[in-house]
Amino acid sequence: MSDDRLLAASRVDEDVQYEAGLRPRTLDEYIGQERIRENLHVSITAAKQRGEALDHVLLYGPPGLGKTTLATVIANELGVAIRPTAGPVIEKAGDLAAMLTNLQAREVLFIDEIHRMAPAIEEILYPAMEDYELDIMIGQGPGARSVKVPVQRFTLVGATTRTGLLTSPLRARFGIVHRLDYYTELDIYEIVRRSARILGVEIEPDAATDIARRSRGTPRVANRLLRRVRDYAQVRADGRISVDVARRALKLLEVDEHGFDEVDRRLLRTIIDKFSGGPVGVASLAAAMSEERDALEDIYEPFLIQIGFLDRTPRGRVATPRAYEYFGLPAPGKDRLW
Ligand SMILES: Nc1ncnc2c1ncn2[C@@H]1O[C@H](COP(=O)(O)OP(=O)(O)OP(=O)(O)O)[C@@H](O)[C@H]1O
Ligand SMILES: [Mg+2]
Repeated sequence: MSDDRLLAASRVDEDVQYEAGLRPRTLDEYIGQERIRENLHVSITAAKQRGEALDHVLLYGPPGLGKTTLATVIANELGVAIRPTAGPVIEKAGDLAAMLTNLQAREVLFIDEIHRMAPAIEEILYPAMEDYELDIMIGQGPGARSVKVPVQRFTLVGATTRTGLLTSPLRARFGIVHRLDYYTELDIYEIVRRSARILGVEIEPDAATDIARRSRGTPRVANRLLRRVRDYAQVRADGRISVDVARRALKLLEVDEHGFDEVDRRLLRTIIDKFSGGPVGVASLAAAMSEERDALEDIYEPFLIQIGFLDRTPRGRVATPRAYEYFGLPAPGKDRLW
């Protein structure tokens, strides 16, 4: 297995069967993201006290940080059902209209990858979100008329990795907007301990720290590494994840010490090799890498900035001395004009 797949924040097939069991179900079980948790706790409690539907919620942030999990937690805390769908899955306006009219009062409609909804379908959502009604066209040509169909007061929870791609009319209709950030090492440590408990595997605290350090602040990556290390512990040791077992397993898996994946490395190398370390504008960088600009901005840069490998300056992106060190390259002299 390549370490790229191991460290990718996006979901791979194997994750699906495990994620269900490891997913926190309540706000209390949800680790980290304190500010979001507290805000949601207040909003949810208030809505419940008033017996109303919670305001529509938009969750955005890089893959694997817990958006889908949080959508489920919101529904659980509200004590209502969650009806999940995804932007690319909704093919016809009628599909969405049917989902909306089938919702019971206060239920959660979860639309994953909401930025990938077709514009014509997105428009159905506007009156539904705002006035809890659908504008449906009946007939064609001159005889066509629009009828209004009421829907129950519901909560739309939308998730996206790319808020930049959301149209502004859609974005404006969310009363609650939260950006999920990379987790601290301590949060990931807690997540590893919790997941180990659920998987029924014993793990030494320092071994959990080792795994946490290599998980790029992403719960999905942490859970995946834990499963691989557990395999190793089972086959090459007595099943217990000691520090020694964890180190040997991570070494065998060739896991990057910072949890970098291929794009992280390519981004840094492009700045260093093609732009002499920067500063380089994000548009030029994206073009040189053949990546989309907002994928770089929304998904890859935030992590590299957080761990101090990349600087965002007014004149563009700059690879820091730590980035050079990582590749075993001498950092450019201090007299450089950053
Ligand atoms: N706060 C958390 N505490 C504990 N575990 C978490 C937390 N957030 C996420 N996880 C774990 O990480 C896994 C991935 O989370 P989730 O599927 O919600 O990410 P996502 O943001 O929806 O990703 P994507 O953008 O790919 O859809 C979950 O199965 C869950 O076990
Ligand atoms: Mg998700």
